[in-house]
Amino acid sequence: MRVTHDNQLTADSTQQSDYLAKYLALYFFVSLTAVLSVSAYNTIPSEMEVESPEMIPSDNSHPASDSNDFGNSENNSQLSDDHITQLQQQVIANFQKPNLPNVNVPERIIICLDVCCDDKSSLFRLGDGTTFTPFNMMKRILDFFLHSKHAINKRTEFALLVMTESEPLWAQNFTNNLKDIFNAIDCTLLKDCATNGCTTESFDFQNVFQLIKQKVGIPEFKQEECILPPPYVVRMLVLYGRSNCLPLIPQDDPYFIFLKKQMYFYIDILLAHEEECGEYKCAEIYDALQDLDNGYSYVFEVSRNATKIHDCIAKLLAHPLQRPLQRIANYTFGVRQ
Ligand SMILES: *[C@@H]1O[C@H](CO)[C@@H](O)[C@H](O)[C@H]1NC(C)=O
Ligand SMILES: *[C@@H]1O[C@H](CO)[C@@H](O)[C@H](O)[C@H]1NC(C)=O
Ligand SMILES: *[C@@H]1O[C@H](CO)[C@@H](O)[C@H](O)[C@H]1NC(C)=O
Ligand SMILES: *[C@@H]1O[C@H](CO)[C@@H](O)[C@H](O)[C@H]1NC(C)=O
Repeated sequence: MRVTHDNQLTADSTQQSDYLAKYLALYFFVSLTAVLSVSAYNTIPSEMEVESPEMIPSDNSHPASDSNDFGNSENNSQLSDDHITQLQQQVIANFQKPNLPNVNVPERIIICLDVCCDDKSSLFRLGDGTTFTPFNMMKRILDFFLHSKHAINKRTEFALLVMTESEPLWAQNFTNNLKDIFNAIDCTLLKDCATNGCTTESFDFQNVFQLIKQKVGIPEFKQEECILPPPYVVRMLVLYGRSNCLPLIPQDDPYFIFLKKQMYFYIDILLAHEEECGEYKCAEIYDALQDLDNGYSYVFEVSRNATKIHDCIAKLLAHPLQRPLQRIANYTFGVRQ
């Protein structure tokens, strides 16, 4: 009898059933999330909108921002026609997009660390009053990021590329030994941070791509083997810290064009800029950096907000093959009352 059964269960093992229910709910939630991420990954248009700019009134030209104008225009019919054509193209593009295995294969992460920033006296402040210079804050969040990635998968490897004032340097080959990478970061910060604020007008990413070409192998995506996971994926994490120096992204550089087409190469960006954006070129820099995005990037910007920079680095922990597009990522956990 059902009632008896239920009563028994309640009497004998209230606690276990409680655990079981929670476990099942969690399991269901995780599976659902996985399914949603996968379907999102494969079906959602690939252009994206960067989440809540802290203070930059960005005039970025990404198609996603068009949706804000939608409906406000004097000529609605024209706009919606454009919009529909655009949506149709996106749908077609998504049908053509290959299916990637969403497996947590080891990541090789290139930390692109900017050691040039504008005002070393502008500080991050924690809730308890502790302050951090921009470099020390970078170190702190990298410490968290590297340890967490290592804990998730010991085969995660890291390399260090340092962006000095005018050129990039390869400071550490790929390694899964955290000591090596922390040493390399410390050496870099000691050596390069003694210099004064950044005075150059622009930083050319072409040299960065040249270094990547020399130092990094990227697994090839083969349509006929698309079910087989690659041996690893490569992710470049650009930690840009300048508020006056424009990044030059060489859109016509053959190697950059090649990189943008690689299914197993990702570029994520964290811009940490000065607070007083009126006095700096934060918005231009933010817009320029988005040219690194091929639709799969996670892009964040933060001024001197210690909470927010920690939030951003935590969001960057997700594995590129398993995360949804940034635009539709939802970090709410559980159900709100
Ligand atoms: C809207 O665009 C259509 C097609 O280009 C044009 O024929 C029409 O006159 C426009 N209407 C307004 C109000 O501008
Ligand atoms: C990286 O590895 C190459 C080849 O093994 C070696 O020549 C080079 O010195 C290494 N670079 C660094 C920065 O450790
Ligand atoms: C810092 O960022 C957090 C999280 O994004 C936000 O809730 C908070 O209001 C921000 N603090 C300031 C002073 O802007
Ligand atoms: C995220 O998910 C929560 C419930 O899990 C929902 O209430 C919220 O609206 C979602 N946010 C977005 C931006 O979709």
